[in-house]
Amino acid sequence: MVRSDGYDAWLSYSSVTNKNAQKYAAFFSSCYIIAPDGCPDGRQEGCPPGKDSNNSSATDTCTNIQREISSCFKSAGISTSVTVCGRGTLIPDDAGVFTIFSESVPAHFSYIDKETGDEGFSIVSDASRICAFSKTYTGLLYAAFKILRMIQMNEGLENLSISEKPALPHRILNHWDNLDGSIERGYAGESLWKWDELPFVIDSRYTDYARMLCSVGINGSVLNNVNTQPKILSTDYISKIASLASVFRSWGIKTYVSVNFGSPVSLGGLKTADPLDQSVIEWWEEKIAEIYASVPDFGGFLIKADSEGQPGPYAYGRSHADGANMIAGILARYGGILIWRAFVYGHGETDRAKKAYADFKPLDGKFLPNVTIQVKNGPIDFQPREPVHPMFGGMEKANIFMEFQIAQEYLGQGNHLVYLAPMWKEILDFDTKIKQEKSQVKHTLSGIGAVSNTGNNSDWCGSLFHTANLYAYGRLSWNFELSSEHIAREWALCTWGLDTFLHEIVMFILMNSWEACVNYMTPLCLHHIMKYHHHYGPDPACEEGEREDWKPKYYHRADKLGLGFDRTRNGSGAVDQYSKPVADMFNDIATCPEKYLLWFHHVPWNYKLSSGRTLKDELVYAYNKGVSQAENLLSTWKKAESLVSKEHYKAVLGKLEIQVKDAYEWRDVCLQYFLSFTE
Ligand code: GCU
Repeated sequence: MVRSDGYDAWLSYSSVTNKNAQKYAAFFSSCYIIAPDGCPDGRQEGCPPGKDSNNSSATDTCTNIQREISSCFKSAGISTSVTVCGRGTLIPDDAGVFTIFSESVPAHFSYIDKETGDEGFSIVSDASRICAFSKTYTGLLYAAFKILRMIQMNEGLENLSISEKPALPHRILNHWDNLDGSIERGYAGESLWKWDELPFVIDSRYTDYARMLCSVGINGSVLNNVNTQPKILSTDYISKIASLASVFRSWGIKTYVSVNFGSPVSLGGLKTADPLDQSVIEWWEEKIAEIYASVPDFGGFLIKADSEGQPGPYAYGRSHADGANMIAGILARYGGILIWRAFVYGHGETDRAKKAYADFKPLDGKFLPNVTIQVKNGPIDFQPREPVHPMFGGMEKANIFMEFQIAQEYLGQGNHLVYLAPMWKEILDFDTKIKQEKSQVKHTLSGIGAVSNTGNNSDWCGSLFHTANLYAYGRLSWNFELSSEHIAREWALCTWGLDTFLHEIVMFILMNSWEACVNYMTPLCLHHIMKYHHHYGPDPACEEGEREDWKPKYYHRADKLGLGFDRTRNGSGAVDQYSKPVADMFNDIATCPEKYLLWFHHVPWNYKLSSGRTLKDELVYAYNKGVSQAENLLSTWKKAESLVSKEHYKAVLGKLEIQVKDAYEWRDVCLQYFLSFTE
């Protein structure tokens, strides 16, 4: 049974019943996890960097593996014997083993894939013994979660020969948590971090959080909002950061913080934050040294500079590269990275969508190797659908991180059930055609970040269904090749159990929800037509906001002639920020994929789409379709009434009822407004 408050998310192990679990008993009746006996310099093979001199972090990781396996079987009433032992322990022939490569390999297993990198693993088994190998203890923990996932899904463990490694070395969650406990664009309660209590009180929830992230392969956490307060770098806060890092470490999670570029002035009391000023450089040197003294494996900084009022190098006549390189150069001495965001706009650009590429492309090749530019998936801002950002592939030399948003700022927030994996897949699989082969967006990345949807609500993400997106983000960043259906299936089985009918219901809701949302909110790639400021609900006529490029009219350009933003060569020319073949495709209304039509073209009302309908009729059709798809999600869920607990049934029902009501509002408000131009 899933815990009624949703706290266990996909790790309740509720599908592991006594009946199902009997077949796994033999594998864990005698199983050994070979822990390090000591790793004095903290850098030996197999030891995660940055642990203390008695190697407690690696040992803690082994304990995590042991506890996780035991807790999986506990509720099923199956007794297991999983022992954390030291090197040199005599392992019985019939035992399973979790071991790093430097240990001796049990004679009965010969298959080892050693090419699994720092975090990957291989798993081999016969009829009753299972062995997991990795280069690191974190890799073994990932292997354990893999096995436990298979058990939750009721899959066999016999005769396995599995080898996995993550698609990217950096798979990071970005919290937009403020230091006062609020969360920017947070819809699941307050921040998880109780800054006032840290470092003295360590909430047990921090461990549960790290465990959840680790179970899906996320290996980094940026603790605070990109619109950050300088005091995050105060000595006081560094000790708080260190206390969180010490919880996360044994789960393979590195800690990062967002920092304010103006900190030397606002926190350090200097007269300038000019990145080329010696006193500024020294200030950062001291600060970064102070952090690494407390957090030796600190991941690095995330910086939003010269964006939406955040300070940056422009004030001093310096470029993004000047600003980023100065700080990155210091972080590099400790192995840290600098994630510099490309979310910039304004300053006289004719098309906001062009700004980031225009500013950053000339700097390509000028960033230090440990700088990475983090780019939102689309050129505007986490809309229900956007074409890919032209910086993917367009920036050929710089390291590029993808930035997704798990929090559904523009997709119904905490209320609408929208499974985001299909959207992320559409972006990752898009072929930039920047070169002959391996030119899909997923091939251009060196890391990935996503704005978290977590908060201190008991269910973590606002509803049990919203956890599907956190799950999907982790799984996808571990393996880009997983299909959204596959991930949905895993999540559904682990969260809701093995009942086939319930499974079908959950899968239907997941797999149809994004398309529904796009249809009832922004069909044909309309964008930015939401209400001002809080971004919930439709307002295509909105006149609020000081800036033109915050107003919906700037984006939809509805007039008597037609609808959509002309970004062709006759319009803003944004198409030419893409590679030639892609630019040509978008530029021509005949070849532009219809799903992106109104992003790139101002389309006449009587233009005929492939359906045979005119634009006007297609819009009516799509909005109506979105509404009926939303209604379908709701009526499908109603079939689950007898299959789930009352609490879960009602909670999901309530969300879906809001979603349907909102879908009607989107349809009615938008159609009324847009169709008025056709009269
Ligand atoms: C959006 C969002 C802001 C956020 C910004 C960003 O504009 O509404 O709250 O700060 O993105 O990504 O920096």
